[in-house]
Amino acid sequence: PYSSADQGWLSYTNNESLAGMKELTQIAVYGNSDVIDSALAELTHGIREMTGTLPAIVSDPDRQASNLIRLALLEEIGVPEEWMDAARIKDLGEEGYAIRRHPENGGGSLYVMANTDRGLLYGTFHLLRILRTGQELDRLDVTDRPRNPLRMMNHWDNMDGSIERGYAGRSIFFQDNRFVEDDARIRDYARLMASIGINGIAINNVNVHRTETQLITRQFLPDVANVAGIFRRYGIRLFLSVNYASPMELGGLDTADPLDSRVGDWWKEKAKEIYEYIPDFGGFVVKADSEHRPGPFTYDRTHADGSNMLAEALEPFGGLVIWRCFVYNCLQNWRDRSTDRARAAYDHFKPLDGQFKPNVILQIKNGPMDFQVREAVSPLLGAMPGTNQMLEFQITQEYTGQQKHLCYLVPQWKEILDFDTFAQGQGTEVKKVVSGGIYPYRACGIAAVINVGDDHNWTGHTLAQANLYGYGRLAWNPDLTEEDITGEWIRLTFGGDSLVSAEIEPMLADSWHVYESYTSPLGVGWMVNPGHHYGPNVDGYEYSVWGTYHFADCHGIGVNRTVKDGTGFVSQYFPENAQRYESLESCPDELLLFFHHVPYSHVLHSGKTVIQHIYDTHFDGVEGVEQLIGRWSKLEGHIDEWRYRNVWERLHIQLDHAKEWRDVINTYFYRKSGIPDAAGRTIY
Ligand code: GCU
Repeated sequence: PYSSADQGWLSYTNNESLAGMKELTQIAVYGNSDVIDSALAELTHGIREMTGTLPAIVSDPDRQASNLIRLALLEEIGVPEEWMDAARIKDLGEEGYAIRRHPENGGGSLYVMANTDRGLLYGTFHLLRILRTGQELDRLDVTDRPRNPLRMMNHWDNMDGSIERGYAGRSIFFQDNRFVEDDARIRDYARLMASIGINGIAINNVNVHRTETQLITRQFLPDVANVAGIFRRYGIRLFLSVNYASPMELGGLDTADPLDSRVGDWWKEKAKEIYEYIPDFGGFVVKADSEHRPGPFTYDRTHADGSNMLAEALEPFGGLVIWRCFVYNCLQNWRDRSTDRARAAYDHFKPLDGQFKPNVILQIKNGPMDFQVREAVSPLLGAMPGTNQMLEFQITQEYTGQQKHLCYLVPQWKEILDFDTFAQGQGTEVKKVVSGGIYPYRACGIAAVINVGDDHNWTGHTLAQANLYGYGRLAWNPDLTEEDITGEWIRLTFGGDSLVSAEIEPMLADSWHVYESYTSPLGVGWMVNPGHHYGPNVDGYEYSVWGTYHFADCHGIGVNRTVKDGTGFVSQYFPENAQRYESLESCPDELLLFFHHVPYSHVLHSGKTVIQHIYDTHFDGVEGVEQLIGRWSKLEGHIDEWRYRNVWERLHIQLDHAKEWRDVINTYFYRKSGIPDAAGRTIY
């Protein structure tokens, strides 16, 4: 049933120490559903791969029987009070589970227990992880549940098979303006996603073009329903990105005005039709009034008007409207230094707080600009007590090396999740806001723009699988440490060879910093080639309409976003952060040029001048890549040839491009500033 693609962190290998474990030879199931069938299939597959023996499925085993796994819905199996009292059972909620080993009759049994079939599926994957990573089973007693209610993936796939910002092949869903015929890849994908706890997936690009607009018509709904069915068996709800102007493009209306009752009625009928095909349809993801997409502004309506109208249509069926806040003026005049793109989301949405229906969620990118290697955290996060919010990350490495460069994003995401907004005083971290721990959100969580395509390894760069894995694990539990996640991923993916862990762990840990070192400095961002966004071009966006400037001249560089004499963006933060960023003394080095325009001679907290920092980091960055190559080279023969070569080749491309970045950036700033490198290295 599985495709021939790389199975990533679900690749099991024979494990001698498990082969003798009697409790892995039989499985008893208590409960009945498609999702439980999936859990059972995963368990039998995993155990067979690891032990060489297919476990037997036993029905109605004696309660006294031992040496088996019991996969059990709690209501189907009476658990003794001393294991789990009522409070603990309730606490597992709809997606949590308990795993426990119990000594019985001279042997032992493993219990995976949950209130729901989805809980059992997640518990099963956890048990497989334990088996695969060789953790101690003896006194196993685990309970877990996800922190974020919504853990989503957003595909930017188009129906012609292309993927916007995709760096790993063609779409696994679409080709030639149709759905793919062979859905084995989609099945494997659903397994990979469920194994890291993903429970919602939007399958098409937020830029909904002509053909994709038709996804909500009877022409394609049967195919959408087929994919939704594959997802459903893995506890995942399917979402679609929709075109705000659908009533015009599909319905023949002359308007998409949200306050025109014909428009609302059209969407209500449309919702009914969609739910005929997909009874558990998740809802709509909407990019409106953003980068030339249609939206309520055309009719002088607000984003509350626009999203509430859709929410009303989905409400009877339990559907959600996920409304993106990536709304800004993309036709800016570069000569005008008072307009600041970073301000846009907050300026547009904050005044609407409290006006959105309970089934609308605002989806906010982690930064106020656009997924740069380093930027400030969006001040909108935590700023709307009366409106559901969710966080948007980008796994696909649009601005972080396009999966040719190694850039492990878990450290970056950890920083963002741990960022204290101070919305309710100290301790109001982003992770608490978006998981619903601060304000009484009806729906919330995390979404990420995904990086998979039909490449054999899904992600182009094999080590980029770690970003996919790490995202899912953090969405499940943002308190997991980087070390936990990295260690887990390496063992699951490459097995227990300690040399492999010893080299890959520091490679991943250093990679974000290395990438940042040779690209745009001190949080200023961009400096990439326009359009495809790959490779250095310092002035690529400097005289354009996109609002993404660095303002470098012969004296200095950076964007003045202060309240005192800048764009005032800083005022959007709660006072503790606003004060920190406003003042040059307290603004952290890594964000200095995001918040301030300073002379090249400005001395950083590190003791270096800005210009010397630029030179040093760019030379260091290239050396960092050389070290990555050095580490990887030690693994030849310890990793299968295909994966070894895949990473080796990309690391060498990275080295070439890192040199290009270094020389272009250093030369640019040397020519602008006229200040030589104190160490006298070669600058052109
Ligand atoms: C970036 C990206 C686009 C994308 C947009 C979005 O600007 O380059 O490809 O459509 O973000 O998030 O909507």
